[in-house]
Amino acid sequence: MGSSRFLGLYITICVLAFVISKITIAVLCYRRWQRKQLVIQDRFSDGKLVLFRSPKMKSLKPNSFLKKTMKLTSKDRIGSGGYGTVYRLTINESTSFAVKKLRRETTEQDRGFERELESMGDIKHRNIVTLHGYYTAPNFNLLIYELMPNGSLDTLLHGRRMDKVLDWDARYKIAVGAARGLSYLHHDCVPHIIHRDIKSSNILLDHNMEARVSDFGLATLMEQDNTHVSTLVAGTFGYLAPEYFDTGRATTKGDVYSFGVVLLELLTGRKPSDEAFVEEGTKLVTWVKTVVQDKKEEHYVDDRLGCNRMDEINHAFIIALMCLETDPLKRPNMLEVLKMLEEIKPDHLGHNSQSFT
Ligand SMILES: Nc1ncnc2c1ncn2[C@@H]1O[C@H](COP(=O)(O)OP(=O)(O)OP(=O)(O)O)[C@@H](O)[C@H]1O
Ligand SMILES: [Mg+2]
Repeated sequence: MGSSRFLGLYITICVLAFVISKITIAVLCYRRWQRKQLVIQDRFSDGKLVLFRSPKMKSLKPNSFLKKTMKLTSKDRIGSGGYGTVYRLTINESTSFAVKKLRRETTEQDRGFERELESMGDIKHRNIVTLHGYYTAPNFNLLIYELMPNGSLDTLLHGRRMDKVLDWDARYKIAVGAARGLSYLHHDCVPHIIHRDIKSSNILLDHNMEARVSDFGLATLMEQDNTHVSTLVAGTFGYLAPEYFDTGRATTKGDVYSFGVVLLELLTGRKPSDEAFVEEGTKLVTWVKTVVQDKKEEHYVDDRLGCNRMDEINHAFIIALMCLETDPLKRPNMLEVLKMLEEIKPDHLGHNSQSFT
C-alpha cells in the first residue's frame, strides 16, 4: 500500500518536472527569438518588417527605417537582376543598406519563405554578404542586405569604371575570399548550402576590396515562388555545369564548376559569354585544357593584370581546369579549391594590401 502511494507520488513529480521543463524551454526559446529579431507591422501596406538584431541594427529607429524603405524610388536604384531590383537605402551619413525588391505576383504569404530568410539571417562570415532583415507584403518582398561600397566583380571587370583597375594581387585576394565564402556555405553551414548562382555579379566587394558572396539561397528561395520566370533553369548560362542540363539538380560540385568559370574570368578579363569561352560547358573544359597543355596562358591573360608572376597565374589556370572538369566526381570540393588557391601565395594571406589603383 505504502509503496504504491510512493510510486504515485514519484510519477506525479516526474510528470510535473517534465511539464515545467518544457514550459521553461518554450519561454527561453521565445525570449531568444525576441532578442534575435525585431518585428514591425506596417499598417499602411499590410506588410511586416523583420530586422535581425546585430550591433549595426541596434542604433536604428525601426519606424523611421520602415518609412525610408517605403520611400525608395528609381533615383536610389543600384542595379537589377533576374529576381528584382536593388536600391541604396541611406539612413544617415554612416549607415546605408542595399534593398532588393523581389518580383512577386501571387498574394499568398508563404511561411517557408520566412523560415528560409530567418536561417539566411543567421549566417555571418567575412566573405558572405550579411542579410539584415526582410519585409513581406501581399504584393512584394524586400531583402535588406549590407551595402557593398565597391559594387560587384562583374562591374569592376567588365564595366566602364576606369578608376579601379584590378591587378593580379587584388584578383588573387578576391578569388581566395570568394572560395572561402563558398567553402563556408558548403562545408561549415548546417544544413549545407548550395549557392546555385555563382557568377561575377554575385561576388561583391567590401570597402577593403575583400570578396563577399551574395545571393546565396536565393535560387532555392525563389523556386518556392513559382512566379519567377526562369525557374526552369536556376543559375546563369555560361556558369552552369554541363550535368545540370541533364539532371536539373543543383549540387555543390555544380557551384565548384561555376567558381571555375569566375576564376577564368579573373584571369582572362573575359565574360563567360565571350567567344573564347564558347557557350557549351564541355567545350570550355577543352578550351582551358588546350591553353594549359600548349602553355598558351600568356596569350589569354588579361593585360590589366600588370604582373610578371606567370608562375602564379599558370597555377591558378590549373586550379580553374580542375574546377571545370566535365565529370563532377573529378572536380575538387571547395575546401580543396581554397587550400590550392592559398598555396599559390602562402605569404600573402592575412595581408590587406591595397593592390588596386
Ligand atoms: N549588397 C549589395 N551592395 C551593393 N551593390 C549590390 C548589392 N547587391 C546587389 N548589388 C548591385 O546590384 C546589381 C544587381 O544585383 P542583382 O543581384 O539583382 O542582379 P545579378 O546579381 O546581376 O543577378 P541575379 O539576380 O541572378 O543575382 C549587382 O550587379 C550589384 O552591382
Ligand atoms: Mg545578384
